[in-house]
Amino acid sequence: MKKSRILGVGRYLPEKIVTNFDLEKMMDTTDEWIRQRTGIEQRRFAAEGEGAALMGARAGEEAIKNAGLKKEDIDFIIFATLSPDYNFPGSGVFVQDLLGIEPIGALDVRNQCTGFIYSLSIADQFIKTGMYKHILVIGSEVHSTGNEFTTRGRDVAVLFGDGAGAVVVGESEDEKRGILSTHLHSQGKYAKELWVEAPASILHPRLTQEMMDQGRHYPKMNGKNVYKHAVTRMPEVIMEAVNANGYKISDIDLLVPHQANMRINEYVAGTLGIAPEKVVHNIQKYGNTTAATIPLCFYDAIEDGRLKPGTLVCVAAFGAGFTWASALLRW
Ligand code: UT7
Repeated sequence: MKKSRILGVGRYLPEKIVTNFDLEKMMDTTDEWIRQRTGIEQRRFAAEGEGAALMGARAGEEAIKNAGLKKEDIDFIIFATLSPDYNFPGSGVFVQDLLGIEPIGALDVRNQCTGFIYSLSIADQFIKTGMYKHILVIGSEVHSTGNEFTTRGRDVAVLFGDGAGAVVVGESEDEKRGILSTHLHSQGKYAKELWVEAPASILHPRLTQEMMDQGRHYPKMNGKNVYKHAVTRMPEVIMEAVNANGYKISDIDLLVPHQANMRINEYVAGTLGIAPEKVVHNIQKYGNTTAATIPLCFYDAIEDGRLKPGTLVCVAAFGAGFTWASALLRW
């Protein structure tokens, strides 16, 4: 069977930088609290009109260029986000239009923190079967318009940032390089531990002024419970990827974890005995960019020279759903 490989990586980051000190002016929080608990120092906020689709399209253009391809070479788009520009249609079709590559298919994936790995897995299957040749996989988020920047919303608002990362997945010309395996999981009984309740089609009406006054249209998280599950599931799913390919943890050259909390990632790496220099972090610069964290980490690791042809890289994520996932790649 054909093997698929990431051929190019791109990113887009809004210009506006918001530091922890900026947040101190909006709510009862401190730079010290945020840095100590999460590792975050600053994040980016999108300008008006800079939606998930536009940022994703810009990241996608760079990924296509870095893959040595032209827009016309792309034959499918997979777009992962929890913050689509509009309720419907999904943002993938807007990316297709912005790139002007009609009439290829565009699929939106709604898997939050694991959205990029789920999307990579879908792309992998389409490439392996020969259905498509070059798939643009995008993770893009705008959190800044959806959080509550007051003391009531501080537990969630300080964590997230805006940004987009993209990769082009295509057939590998070298059978030793590429996506080795992907592993996807969920546990819906914990869906309400991290969610945005409204507007909701299950409610009649979907949204009322009273619900807005109660803040039910803002994300809610039971942080401690999410943390507890994350530090269990992340090592588990990393081991699953390593074992599925007959490797040992010590064979991993680079761990690219989802960026929800630097403390979670340090704990996970410590538990597994992975050296700190093998772990990629960008949360200090960008906060949690949900579906964009992993491709943004790829970008940084290519720039700093840690991610190069032949690197054995494990990606892993845990988040809302709960969902968790991993993939092992020979870059
Ligand atoms: O990508 C999605 C997946 N998400 C995650 O994996 C996140 C997992 N959870 C976490 O990373 C951590 O639970 C947090 C970093 C979100 C929170 O850390 P924590 O140690 O669990 O804090 P906490 O929620 O238990 O809050 C501790 C205290 C509380 O005050 P009291 O009750 O002890 O007086 C909070 O009210 O900190 C307070 N607090 C804050 N203080 C200053 C909560 N948010 C803030 C804030 N600034 N932004």
